[in-house]
Amino acid sequence: MSTRQVDLELVEKMSTSALEAYNNSYCPYSKYKVGAAILTKDGTIFNGCNIENCTYTLTLHAEQTAIGNAITKGQRVFQALFVMSKDGQATPCGICRQMLYEHAETIPIYTIDPQGQIVHHFFLNDLLPHAFGPHNLKC
Ligand code: THU
Ligand code: ZN
Repeated sequence: MSTRQVDLELVEKMSTSALEAYNNSYCPYSKYKVGAAILTKDGTIFNGCNIENCTYTLTLHAEQTAIGNAITKGQRVFQALFVMSKDGQATPCGICRQMLYEHAETIPIYTIDPQGQIVHHFFLNDLLPHAFGPHNLKC
């Protein structure tokens, strides 16, 4: 996938994967389902959903579970991220942006609704300018 363009077949696959995660979201407290699908360098798609907890402070975000699933399988280079929410307005929060930055500084991000409509499209480096990253530790 080019960083500026996604092909339709891939959009369909990413949306389907995000929808599966969205439908499995465990969010009894916020009732706000989020599903994420992340495309790795070799074309594999991993997904993840938000997983809430009765402590409230302990919540895994959809992007975090998707990245975690990919890294667990040995995939650490990412090409694109889709984030699904009921109106397609959910953008990755600050913590998720930082987590993504570690592995994919320039990753394109698409927010979508459950029908697979792309609502927003932007790049991680636009969301997290002047990011603190692994380079800061290499002095
Ligand atoms: N949420 C995510 O899954 N990703 C984000 O980056 C934003 C927030 C989830 C966490 C919580 O379960 C619900 O959305 C409401 O904040
Ligand atoms: Zn987040």
